[in-house]
Amino acid sequence: MLKSFWFWTLIVFIAMQFFSLDIPAKLPIKKDEELQTSSEVMNILKRSCYDCHSSEVKAPWYYKVAPISWFTQVHVKNARTVVNFSKWNSYSKEKQYKVLDKIPKSLLIRMPMPIYTYMHKNTILTKKEKKIVSKWAKELKEEIK
Ligand code: HEC
Repeated sequence: MLKSFWFWTLIVFIAMQFFSLDIPAKLPIKKDEELQTSSEVMNILKRSCYDCHSSEVKAPWYYKVAPISWFTQVHVKNARTVVNFSKWNSYSKEKQYKVLDKIPKSLLIRMPMPIYTYMHKNTILTKKEKKIVSKWAKELKEEIK
């Protein structure tokens, strides 16, 4: 009985692997499309946002293992739709404005996603870091208005 339970669990697990999303962690990067700003801001974004909002996602081993992959890859897909910082310069001013407008609020509770910071403690932003990113977003927003 127990043996067949694990047998079927294994079969289901293997079967799940055939339903992959194929959202690549890495996409081709064009240097001139990448966001460029102070290293202070870049370091924070790279540490805390680039695992979803970029073309250079650092994929852990489970990135491709279903069922976890279904969640991680959908997050990356949706996050890139909102903003992919590796493609920043290819966006219209309107789109950039919209994103910058949302950043300060997003940092209050939603970003980086709590389920992600729970798994990756080093991506939690301090109050000071949030202030730095918010200030950057507000200033750049005014600049491109
Ligand atoms: C684990 C993946 C992940 C990380 C890390 C992450 N995001 Fe997101 N982000 C998402 C997803 C998924 C969405 C779109 C769905 C949603 O709004 O929940 C999103 C949406 C957003 C939005 C739009 C919010 C809105 O109100 O429409 C902003 C702005 C944003 N993220 C900024 C950031 C910033 C800044 C960081 C880093 C400090 C960050 N995100 C880190 C996954 C992530």
